[in-house]
Amino acid sequence: MKNLKNDLYLRALRGEKVERTPIWVMRQAGRYLPEYRATRKQAGDFLTLCKTPELACEVTMQPIDRFGLDAAILFSDILTIPDAMGLELVLEEGIGPVFNKPIRSQGDIDALGVPDAEQDLGYVMNAIRVIRGALDGRVPLIGFTGSPWTLASYMVEGSGSKEFRRIKGLMFESPESAHQLLQIVTDSVIQYLKAQVAAGAQSLMVFDTWGGMLSTQNYQTFSLAYMQQIVSAIKNDEACNGVPIVLFTKGGGQWLESMADTGCDGLGLDWTVDISSAKQRVGDRVVLQGNMDPVVMNTSQQQVADHALEVLHGYGQHQAQDKGHIFNLGHGIQPFAKPENMQALVETVQQQSGQFHE
Ligand code: CP3
Repeated sequence: MKNLKNDLYLRALRGEKVERTPIWVMRQAGRYLPEYRATRKQAGDFLTLCKTPELACEVTMQPIDRFGLDAAILFSDILTIPDAMGLELVLEEGIGPVFNKPIRSQGDIDALGVPDAEQDLGYVMNAIRVIRGALDGRVPLIGFTGSPWTLASYMVEGSGSKEFRRIKGLMFESPESAHQLLQIVTDSVIQYLKAQVAAGAQSLMVFDTWGGMLSTQNYQTFSLAYMQQIVSAIKNDEACNGVPIVLFTKGGGQWLESMADTGCDGLGLDWTVDISSAKQRVGDRVVLQGNMDPVVMNTSQQQVADHALEVLHGYGQHQAQDKGHIFNLGHGIQPFAKPENMQALVETVQQQSGQFHE
């Protein structure tokens, strides 16, 4: 892509031949970095950080400046959409995300409207514009959303959950209401992603963190069908100009074929998936992104280097029929990760992956 100094990530995502494997890390801007904790303290709380474009830009740039990763990801959260719908997101240290006004009745679902991405979520678009300016073409910027199922789960549960009793109760007992909710979230996501691209996002990722909690049948109906709508809408939108889109269902390793059928460009793999078998199954149709166990990042530099090489070997040689590999963890890096381990990870991948691209 012209105007980009390092376009490795975008070329890889388009299935083009690259000299080495690009790397970025989910949650690369976050609490494991002392400079992140300092900026967050300055902001006062997490949402202020998200809602102040200059501060969101500052923390987006921190891991790029420190480690030389091959892509930046917008600093924001997946819960911005329900917040803009009026559910009032609060994020408290040690508790996680909570909504003051969760969905508790059919009336609550009926009252939902699609937020205007430029009006109600303008701070996200402003952050993207400020970040693109600060990046100045160093690396591409990834925009993102939560999947409709994952967003609906938080909206109905009102917070994180282990068993998903409320959202699954709605799905089993009132499937039409569940679909009504998922559709309005999907319409919101589509508008939100299109606005992100217009503001300057150069690729898109859909985080389906809770799709893996569903049975195969219900995954198809209540999660994947809505991600399919998103992929189709982005692919059919001329203004999006073929922007690449990656789907990540945590716990979705058994569904890679149907995920690839959506026409997305890449699939995120969690660490439970054997990357070499994933490559055999769908590697000629989609780029694979992942998938080292994030907890390795809490150990030693030697462990990190060994496990990173294991993933690179797992994908193996890049051949003409393969769409390719983007290195990442299998889920977000944790607050307990050591910054020097991130350094070791980036160095290992950047220095040693060339041998798989000959
Ligand atoms: O990857 C990045 O660096 C970009 C920023 C980003 C955040 N959240 C920042 C964040 C992204 C892409 C997300 C996505 C997100 N948010 C997901 C999907 C990805 C995944 O992890 O499965 C989900 C499920 C959320 C919801 C959410 N936001 C949770 C569960 C939490 C609390 C986590 C915790 O450990 O307390 C958040 C808060 C959040 N989002 C933080 C960050 C850096 C921590 C906030 C803080 O205390 O500083």
